[in-house]
Amino acid sequence: MSFDDFHKVNDTKLLEEVSKICSSFEVNAEQIKEMTSYFIQQMEIGLANNNNNEGTINGNKAGLAMIPSYVTSKPNGTEEGLFMAAVLGGMNFRICSVQLNGDHTFDIKQAKTRIPDYLLEGTDATSDDLFGFLARRTSAFINKFHSDIMKPDTPLKLGFTFSYPVDQESLNSGTLIRWTKGLNIPDTVGKDVVQLYQEQLTIVGLNMVNVVALTNDTIGTFLSLCYAQGSTIDGQVSGEISEPVIGCIFGTGTNGCYMEKIENIKKLPDYIRERLIHEGKTEMCINIEWGSFDNDDLVLPTTKYDIDIDKKYAKNGGQLFEKRVSGMFLGEILRNVLVDLHSKGLILTQFRKHEQLPHRLKTPFQLSSEVLARIEIDDSSTLRETELSFLQSLRLPTTLAERRAIQSLVRVISRRSAYLASVPISAILIKTNALNKKYHGEVTVGYDGSIIELYPGFKSMMRQALAMGPIGPEGERKTHFVHSKDSGSAGGALCALVA
Ligand code: BGC
Repeated sequence: MSFDDFHKVNDTKLLEEVSKICSSFEVNAEQIKEMTSYFIQQMEIGLANNNNNEGTINGNKAGLAMIPSYVTSKPNGTEEGLFMAAVLGGMNFRICSVQLNGDHTFDIKQAKTRIPDYLLEGTDATSDDLFGFLARRTSAFINKFHSDIMKPDTPLKLGFTFSYPVDQESLNSGTLIRWTKGLNIPDTVGKDVVQLYQEQLTIVGLNMVNVVALTNDTIGTFLSLCYAQGSTIDGQVSGEISEPVIGCIFGTGTNGCYMEKIENIKKLPDYIRERLIHEGKTEMCINIEWGSFDNDDLVLPTTKYDIDIDKKYAKNGGQLFEKRVSGMFLGEILRNVLVDLHSKGLILTQFRKHEQLPHRLKTPFQLSSEVLARIEIDDSSTLRETELSFLQSLRLPTTLAERRAIQSLVRVISRRSAYLASVPISAILIKTNALNKKYHGEVTVGYDGSIIELYPGFKSMMRQALAMGPIGPEGERKTHFVHSKDSGSAGGALCALVA
């Protein structure tokens, strides 16, 4: 066989195999509906059980974590004051001061730092190392921007936006359930992260900084949406006529929150529920922790690549839904498919044997979602952008046939992610009956995160799936997506305000 013939035969085989793989990533309307009703069921179970997604309770599936946040009211945009916020999530730590102006706007000063490698997964870092680092960054920030207000007798309130699952019994305390997304310091699990941070702040001499509130990033997103848009005050709405219902993140990780009636949160200890009702509270924001939806893998679409990834990164509580949806994993799914195609001799054939595969393609998490985003929208006839992206990120030359295969794969992986992302949104809208309530059922979903914000077409695909799912085109039309800018910082500040 000539060299050209060999390539033609190989290209056809590659095309056939890739089209099979692509079908395995497809998600249809029936699946979306099935997942949505299972999601609602898992929400109900989670509201009744103290489970944290750790397994099975009395033979019933444990349900979603559904963590009570102790946030019992929504801001309306008139709040004022200067608050500190610390935001830990993904690979970064941000320390900020937020001036709430009382007119739906705020001003922020902030310093962002990448979490140093010595604290990341795979090291033997301790809680003191991590929280000591956060305290030192906090001190540097305050010295730089707020030395004027640093007086021992003037306490500064700080809201801590912490993007990992914690078990909360009050607004200002919470024990870490498990790490997700790149951090894994075992001795923090089971400890109160507010206390750990406060202790280290005291060590660096910041006794006047009081960590008064702990909140998840999704709750930050929700609160800053309410602040920016205006939520109901005695049945009157300030700002736009649409009810803020959900706060969600689709970025490195994924998760969401919503307001639930206190009477429905069966797992709240009786004395707490009674106290809240006595104080006139009617609802509480629930951190769903939907990254671990269907950790038993009963309804999620699952390819052989997902099974491999689920197994390989099984620690950190599974997070099966997150692994199919979030930005941290989209590139990793593609990388696993490419390694498989290579092992079958169908792609990157210049590197005949597995050992010859470039180190970069063999290394987990080397393909970022930014690379996928560039490939997704490459509409040049030679797929030039795809070629450049592969050269830049992996130093890998590709043929046109390979690039076509890669683009098809990228597009099914991202579409599946966006279709799955619609499931929790529909589920919450149905569970809360929000589409049949105030303002003709017009609802707002506040979002943040790199994938939903920046990945080309992600939101449109999500909307498409909302229309395909149980709320149908009518429900989809009434659902408005609004980006909550600086949500972690503003949300942390708003939480500090209500504390
Ligand atoms: C965490 C959540 C967080 C989400 C988005 C997930 O990995 O478990 O607590 O809200 O990422 O940052």
